[in-house]
Amino acid sequence: MRFVAVLIAALLFTSDAATGQRPSGALTPQIESILRGIKAADKGQLAVSEEDGRFLRVLVAARGAKSILEIGAASGYSGIWLGLGARESGGRVVAIEYDPARAAEAAANIRKAGLDDVVRVVHGDAFKEIPKLQGTFDFVFLDAWKPDYKKFFDLVFPRLMPGGVFTAHNVVNKKKDMEPFLRMVHGHSSLFTTIVSPSGEGMSVSYRIK
Ligand SMILES: C[S@@+](CC[C@H](N)C(=O)[O-])C[C@H]1O[C@@H](n2cnc3c(N)ncnc32)[C@H](O)[C@@H]1O
Repeated sequence: MRFVAVLIAALLFTSDAATGQRPSGALTPQIESILRGIKAADKGQLAVSEEDGRFLRVLVAARGAKSILEIGAASGYSGIWLGLGARESGGRVVAIEYDPARAAEAAANIRKAGLDDVVRVVHGDAFKEIPKLQGTFDFVFLDAWKPDYKKFFDLVFPRLMPGGVFTAHNVVNKKKDMEPFLRMVHGHSSLFTTIVSPSGEGMSVSYRIK
C-alpha cells in the first residue's frame, strides 16, 4: 500500500501538471493558432500535412542544419515547421514563393509566429532567386511545381554540402509528375535516398555522401 502511494506521488511529481512544464517540443498557442488558420484558409490544399511538417522540423533539428532552402513556400505553413527546426539547430531558412499574394501571406504568418529572425521569405521565381543567394545549403525542401523537380535538383545539387539533406514533397501521390527527378535521386552516385510517407503524400529524403 505504502509502495503504491509512493509510486502515485512520484508520477504526480514528475508529470507536466505537477511541474507546470510543457513538453519541450510543444507549440505555443500562438503558433498552433497560426497553423490552424493557414490550413483553414488553404482551399487549394497547398500546405503539407501536419505530420509532414513535424517530420521536417525533426529533420532540420536532427541534421543541425544551418543553411536551409525552401522552394515553394505558399502561405508559410511548412516554412513555420522548418523555422521551428532551425530555431533548435541555430540555422536560417530562405523560403522562396512565386505568387505575390502567397509570399506576402507567408511573410506575415512567419512574422506572427515570431520566426522572422529565422525565416526570410523571398518573393520571386526560384529559378531566378536561387542563383542570387550566397553560399551553400545543408538542407533543402522542394515543394514547387512537380514537373520542375529535376531542374531544381540540377540547380541546387552543386550547392548542397556533403552531409547535406535534400528533401522533396509529394513523391508518392504525384510521383508520375516527377519521374526524371525520382530516377535521378535513386540512381545518384553521391546520394542515398529513402522515401517516407508520414501522411500519404510522400517525401524523398536524400543524403549527400560526398
Ligand atoms: C504545394 S505549394 C507549397 C506549399 C508549402 N510548401 C507549404 O507546405 O506550406 C507550391 C508553391 O510553389 C510555388 N511555386 C511553383 N513554382 C515556383 C517557382 N518556380 N518559384 C517559386 N515558387 C514556385 C507555387 O506558387 C505554390 O505556392
